[in-house]
Amino acid sequence: MLSSMASQKRLFTGLQPSGQLHIGNYFGALLPTVEMFRQNQGLIMIADYHALTTVKDASTLRENIISVAKDYLAAGINLDNAIIFKQSDVSEHTELAWILECLVTVPFLMQAHAYKDKVAKGLEANAGLFNYPMLMAADILLYDTDIVPVGQDQRQHVEYAREAATKFNAAYDETFKEPAEQIQKQVAVVPGTDGQKMSKSYKNTIPLFGAKDEISKAVMSIVTGTGGETPINVHAIHLLVRGALTNNFSDKKDGEEFSQLYSQNKNNYKLLKEALIEDLEKLIAPMRVKRDAITDEEVKKVLVDGARKAKALASAKMADVRKKIGVTL
Ligand code: TYM
Repeated sequence: MLSSMASQKRLFTGLQPSGQLHIGNYFGALLPTVEMFRQNQGLIMIADYHALTTVKDASTLRENIISVAKDYLAAGINLDNAIIFKQSDVSEHTELAWILECLVTVPFLMQAHAYKDKVAKGLEANAGLFNYPMLMAADILLYDTDIVPVGQDQRQHVEYAREAATKFNAAYDETFKEPAEQIQKQVAVVPGTDGQKMSKSYKNTIPLFGAKDEISKAVMSIVTGTGGETPINVHAIHLLVRGALTNNFSDKKDGEEFSQLYSQNKNNYKLLKEALIEDLEKLIAPMRVKRDAITDEEVKKVLVDGARKAKALASAKMADVRKKIGVTL
């Protein structure tokens, strides 16, 4: 199904099923991905083996996989252009990861943020987390990917994928394309309720498909900054929500209404937060309705179909890789 037209760029992106998605995932990844898949074709992977670095409970992982797939479908992904599959269904990912791990050094992997952050917090990182960048490189390289739509926090991982491609091509023969990340500037890092990057592990999230009272509670807890008239974190999130509602992400071009809301209500944090809750509800309610109508059975069908298509592409690529490295006799 994936076309090889010269003008088309092949996309590849992924998301870990490690819990409920938050609006950082939505603005940083889901929405740009949906937009890009209108014009281009490619693959969307539910990174369930990546999630094993943190999720250790089988029924939680099962639920999360179904839930993330529903989130993509509810966000409006175009299934004519996208193959949606889960990583564990295509064993070539872990196979290629091993081959790439044999080409990079331990000090190189020690520079990866995910690993460094964990160690800096005094936490013990498992070996899966340490090797994570090469599994992600394998995900991307297996499909001759041109563009990887992600949030800013994944930039380094895409650099690692390019580095792995270069190393393989130099050691053997020209085999892998060097992929480029695509990061939407306006939504590169969505702040959480405490002003840091919104992240499950920081417990500062606004859930994407949470109930209205859950979302309200999270918005009301957003820290408003020290002494300024404009609550900067509320404003930053609100700008994105308005952008998605009006299809215009620029503060200036947004018309008078949005800037006036903030200039006329300086210091009225409660009113501004309530306005944000209302806009979030406008954005999320229709997607929530769509999501509630998607059954688990439908999702499983999409994933089975996706696995078959992804497997066909990945196994052809691995046949070439196996020849190149000398294990095909
Ligand atoms: P993950 O599951 O942590 O995040 C999924 C996507 O959401 C983006 N994101 C954000 N963007 C802006 N602001 C935020 N606060 C924010 N939080 C998360 C992430 O940048 C990401 O695009 N390693 C990946 C999953 C993965 C993958 C891949 C991605 C595995 N293989 C291959 C692309 C290609 C991850 O952990 O994303």
